[in-house]
Amino acid sequence: KKGNYEHFMQKEIHEQPESLTTTMRGRLICGDSSKAKSVLLGGLKDHLKTIRRSRRIVFIGCGTSYNAALAARPFLEELSGVPVTMELASDLLDRQGPIYREDTAVFVSQSGETADTLLALQYALENGALCVGITNTVGSAIARNTHCGVHINAGCEIGVASTKAYTSQIAVMAMMALAIGDDTISSQARREAVIDGLFGLPNKVKEVLKLDDEMKDLAKLLMDEQSLLMFGRGYNYATALEGALKVKEVALMHSEGILAGEMKHGPLALVDETLPIIVIATHDACFSKQQSVIQQLHARKGRLIVMCSKGEGPLVCSNGSCRVIEVPQVADCLQPVVNIVPLQLLSYHLTVLRGYNVDQPRNLAKSVTTQ
Ligand code: UD1
Ligand code: F6R
Repeated sequence: KKGNYEHFMQKEIHEQPESLTTTMRGRLICGDSSKAKSVLLGGLKDHLKTIRRSRRIVFIGCGTSYNAALAARPFLEELSGVPVTMELASDLLDRQGPIYREDTAVFVSQSGETADTLLALQYALENGALCVGITNTVGSAIARNTHCGVHINAGCEIGVASTKAYTSQIAVMAMMALAIGDDTISSQARREAVIDGLFGLPNKVKEVLKLDDEMKDLAKLLMDEQSLLMFGRGYNYATALEGALKVKEVALMHSEGILAGEMKHGPLALVDETLPIIVIATHDACFSKQQSVIQQLHARKGRLIVMCSKGEGPLVCSNGSCRVIEVPQVADCLQPVVNIVPLQLLSYHLTVLRGYNVDQPRNLAKSVTTQ
């Protein structure tokens, strides 16, 4: 079943052009001269009015599924006009945090069976919120117990480290934002541009997968390190968190995703000439802020690896002293889908080189059905 691949994780990383295509199949409407491009999510269409009228949209999940929601959040805020908040399922339960009747609570889970997420769903149902599921598993507990939802249709994911489900979850949440914002004329041009971006996304992911050898070389360079930091912000704060989660869970190397805007509030103290740091600086509205972060890390002699948009290597690393990963540029809100791929490849190669179990990392289970 692994075909030409050594591990399921490797297969699932390389499958992403196809899994993204299946996720979007039948859901993007091309449009023509008489009809605008649009999105159709069968499972949500009868609930869009309620979602638009809700007081807030709160995303709830664990691990990678939480990170996917975090990646989609800025675009959802932009198009829905409703406040969007985030909850880690366990933390919501620990606090018994507020969930109201006027809320839309969105439960994101690949397996659809994660205990914390399911308990948070029971809690939100008791509090009278509209409960929406985003899951990969038809017939799962979350799919059955939510009022409505969307199947991400990424295909079965076997490797414990979630890879293709992450990118499909982001694509679904971007489509969800487009569907919610569908009644707003002022954002139509923006929506059509993102729909074009979604159509082109599988090919861009195919392109970024060509970095495989480059990521293997980078893994050789980093394999004996104790620690690896990842700095991101805006659309790509989630990319830093998710990249670091992949490195720690499969390569068993300490890694931390850091919001670049928080750098001066503590993390900067860690920077020296030995600690490797990946900075995500692809081109979007935060680019100039990320350029100044890079300069400040340089000034502290940081060992930098910068991820940037194709052709912008010289812009982010003028003196040639850092390593550069150039990735294809896509619509800003879809860039997290492209940017995570090199980090998935890096964590895969780090794991193989360090001699650890790729598909079943120690102490972890694919589906966490206990609290
Ligand atoms: C559905 C069919 C799909 C078919 C398509 C044709 C299923 C599972 N899907 O896809 O095979 O090709 O129509 O139009 O039969 N739901 C939840 N919670 C969740 C996820 C989904 O309640 O977490 C509900 C949805 O609200 C919906 C149903 O499950 O009522 C199916 O969801 P989804 O597969 O996303 O719908 P379609 O894309 O329309
Ligand atoms: C990381 C990973 C976990 C899961 C988390 C939630 O690669 O797989 O962090 O994302 O346990 O699982 P689901 O999405 O099944 O609810």
